[in-house]
Amino acid sequence: MEQYAIKGGNPLVGEVEIGGAKNAALAIVAAAVMTDETVLIENLPDVSDVNVLLEAMESAGVIINRIDRHTVKINGSQIKNLVVDNDSIKKIRASYYLLGALLGKYKKAEVALPGGCNIGSRAIDQHIKGFKALGAQVRIEHGNVCTEAQHLKGSHIFMDKVSVGATINIILAASLADGQTIIENAAKEPHVVDLANFLNSMGANIKGAGTDVIRIKGVEKLHKTEYAIIPDQIEAGTYMFAAAVTKGDVTVKNVIPKHLESITAKLLEIGCEVEESDDAVRVVASKKLEHTQVKTLPYPGFPTDMQPQITVALALADGTSTVTESIFENRFKYVDELTRMGANIKVESNTAIIEGVGKYTGAGLTAPDLRAGAALVMAGLAAEGFTTIDDIKYIERGYEDFHLKLQSLGAQIERVKSDKELQKFKLKVG
Ligand code: EPZ
Repeated sequence: MEQYAIKGGNPLVGEVEIGGAKNAALAIVAAAVMTDETVLIENLPDVSDVNVLLEAMESAGVIINRIDRHTVKINGSQIKNLVVDNDSIKKIRASYYLLGALLGKYKKAEVALPGGCNIGSRAIDQHIKGFKALGAQVRIEHGNVCTEAQHLKGSHIFMDKVSVGATINIILAASLADGQTIIENAAKEPHVVDLANFLNSMGANIKGAGTDVIRIKGVEKLHKTEYAIIPDQIEAGTYMFAAAVTKGDVTVKNVIPKHLESITAKLLEIGCEVEESDDAVRVVASKKLEHTQVKTLPYPGFPTDMQPQITVALALADGTSTVTESIFENRFKYVDELTRMGANIKVESNTAIIEGVGKYTGAGLTAPDLRAGAALVMAGLAAEGFTTIDDIKYIERGYEDFHLKLQSLGAQIERVKSDKELQKFKLKVG
């Protein structure tokens, strides 16, 4: 029954190192099997989503050699079966990147239908559309997605909606197809660019990643590489908004400020001071936050993965704010939990109408998904009194050492495994 136990009220102050981007790592780790040579990946985040994917790959015969928490060597030459459906893989969304990687390399793959956070339908029709456009057959049987092709041939693919996962999966499969593939209406997220750069370092020929038109010229084979994953823009944004919520002064280090522009812009709008340097951003929140309007959009718009975090901040701001979720259809489940802390938020369709309140009061909460869980921790850090967060396994899918990094910034938070440990925490912090 692991929980986070929090005593709110301390402003977060200090510096925090940001780790590798989870959503880049998941694509890059899967792509590593597309060569028979050994690939070295650095700045890997030590989070359960990545570890579950590595375990599933190992069960399919991939040689995984963990050098340290953040460094792994991967060799896909001994893959015994192209069916990846062990129980753990069903829990993560990014299992489907193995479809694109194995289809590209072996022209055949079978992977359990993806799981992932319950924030909406999580369809895969655009992935299937891409594989079929390249000449593959795709069917769903016994809970697995099965795909195979006699021959993969480049194609001109118009995405019906912007999809990070489908863009990445099509890039994977097209990298070893015959001829040129053009993806129109492609996702532009930094992790799409990171995957393209990784594959190009293995000998692929991918141009235009980061724009909405990506051109992939298929190559014969891919070779070994050594590659360091980009910093996680959402982990960074979470600590930046935690500074805003707790009226703190936090510097996130090892970041790419360009990737944080939409997050920085909103922090400035609500009254925070933000200082940027080459690989760090400092957020100082000394006065009452101000209201604003925000709508989540594909990159470079405000990220949907930062939607719960900005809502937690706006619920403490002066005046009325609105947060519109345009990417997922069920990403406001956490609002009920915030209401129990005293927030005044009304959700109508895909918009939250937020009346700022003076404070949160601590409560017993449950994390409904990864980013909402992190946002509820932020609310607990700002609240008066004690907060406990259950189901922290969701949070640990995407945040490495979350409570330890928050402790280093002055937060009174501990990961407790029993009521006894919870009581001990309460006695300690008083
Ligand atoms: C990725 O999910 C991320 N996950 C998500 O982060 C992130 O919220 C999302 O991109 C948007 O940025 C990983 O990278 C592992 P999409 P993905 O395909 O690829 C619909 C986190 O917290 N859609 O861009 O699944 C879909 O239902 C996670 O780290 C289709 O309709 O997102 C959604 O409404 C949460 N058909 C929208 O498109 C498809 O074939 C965007 O989804 C694919 C998607």
